Amino acid sequence: MKITKLVVASHNAGKIAEIKTLLAPLKIEVQSAADLRLGDVEETGTTFEENAKLKAEALCMMCGLPCLADDSGLCVDALDGRPGVYSARYAPNRDFNEGMKMLLKEMEESGKSTRKAHFSCCMALAYPNEKTIIFEGRVDGNISQTPSGNGGFGYDPIFIPEGFDKTFAELGEDIKNKMSHRSRALEKLINKIK
Ligand code: IMP
Repeated sequence: MKITKLVVASHNAGKIAEIKTLLAPLKIEVQSAADLRLGDVEETGTTFEENAKLKAEALCMMCGLPCLADDSGLCVDALDGRPGVYSARYAPNRDFNEGMKMLLKEMEESGKSTRKAHFSCCMALAYPNEKTIIFEGRVDGNISQTPSGNGGFGYDPIFIPEGFDKTFAELGEDIKNKMSHRSRALEKLINKIK
């Protein structure tokens, strides 16, 4: 399966930058839906897979090119897996400083002592006239007591990956990209298309 151009169905600059970096060695030209002036597709699914699939397929119908969509989020054990598929919407007006505060408060109120959490990512690769392929990635870790670090995006300042004592936001993108949920899903995709 040879791909030279790939449209990424996301308007999240942080995510697109990560995907571009990870696909750079394959010499695949990555464009975002925004570059092609294509609108956002609403995430109406209830699972990461459903959302990734519906976004990739809708975009592929619009532009006729191979399209990659991902849906990802933070699943916190003490909150029974929330915010999960609703991670982006959990933060009021996408203010993640506020979202992280709310999440830490909810964890405290849950009365559960576990700080375990994981980021999940599901990627869907839609090809014109072909069956969509799904790739999944996950990184396990713990939620810190308070946010720290300036790197990354979203919930990075409160996520400490297993085996480390710093948050994703402190570790920086080089380290994060080696183990993130997105890079693990993308690694599977790369093995499929290279
Ligand atoms: P979506 O996949 O764009 O619907 O949104 C996923 C949401 O989950 C993002 O807006 C972030 O809040 C959160 N998220 C997903 N991946 C990451 C990550 O690598 N770091 C921090 N937050 C993330």
